Amino acid sequence: MADENKKPIVIAHRGASGYLPEHTLPAKAMAHAMGADYLEQDVVLTKDGVPVVLHDIHLEYTTDVADRFPDHRRDDGHFYAIDFELAEIQQLQAHERVRISLDGDRTAVFPDRYPLQASTLRVPTLAEEIDLIAGMDRSRGTTTGLYIELKAPNFHRAAGYDMASSILQVLKDKGYADRPGQVYLQSFDDTVLRYLRDDLDCQLPLIQLIADPAWGEDSKVDYAFLQTAAGLDQVASYADGIGPWYRQILLGYDDSGEVELSDLVGLAQARGLQVHPYTLRLEDIPEGVENFDELMQLMFKKAGVDGIFTDFPDLTRRYIDSHFPAP
Ligand code: G3P
Ligand code: CA
Repeated sequence: MADENKKPIVIAHRGASGYLPEHTLPAKAMAHAMGADYLEQDVVLTKDGVPVVLHDIHLEYTTDVADRFPDHRRDDGHFYAIDFELAEIQQLQAHERVRISLDGDRTAVFPDRYPLQASTLRVPTLAEEIDLIAGMDRSRGTTTGLYIELKAPNFHRAAGYDMASSILQVLKDKGYADRPGQVYLQSFDDTVLRYLRDDLDCQLPLIQLIADPAWGEDSKVDYAFLQTAAGLDQVASYADGIGPWYRQILLGYDDSGEVELSDLVGLAQARGLQVHPYTLRLEDIPEGVENFDELMQLMFKKAGVDGIFTDFPDLTRRYIDSHFPAP
């Protein structure tokens, strides 16, 4: 069981992405200033094998790649980061996430967030981002963690890349490989987590992400099974925690208006697994939940999670600091 007085950790999801475009360095600086405990990095590789901080294996949803490198488009219509040298990716302007219609129209996924406009924002390398965080830790007298997701390991493996080794090498170069209290590694793919622990002897805490089975995140992983006692027994053999979708915990309300929670948190914590669900967003308040504060109350106080991914680290920091006593 979790200690109900232990402060849950605030994980800035792609930075302070409620306020600035995801995974840009300003979004990370803002999240750092807001007091996030951990800053999240989604990582993919470039053609020359450099880990960059980018959520998608594609570039067109968060950068101006279609304007700058129209000839790099694959036949399937996508621009793959793995087809670009780092020097090319560094020329791209990053922007708020868009959805793209079949006609090619681009509209903001979150229209009330930072405007879609020309900018000086860039796609950072993992090394650049770590330098920024370490620098801010020094100047602000803080210790801020990295929370790195290995994106699409199967895709990278099929293309001939060992992304786990590349990421671990950056962590070694930057002096973070032996800081288990300051780095989490996460993935939806159990194979890469087992590889990190068993083959690369990685002792950093590992988090098994759990998708909704309907998303088709990874056809090789049975995400329904991972939410069962037997599935969590397996997870506990190679990982230190789980990162479920928060709606796998908060199921809704029954006919009498009582909130319905799954048993996932209890089952995981009984096996020594930490529980860090994703993602709190002002734009995603479930039906029946009054506001963002009530959503946080349900996750932290009712469900008892150990930490959470949030697009609004300022609001989550404030909630935790005012509802959990200082040690
Ligand atoms: O890694 C936790 C959460 O970020 C998973 O979802 O798609 O935002 O990477 P995604
Ligand atoms: Ca992520």
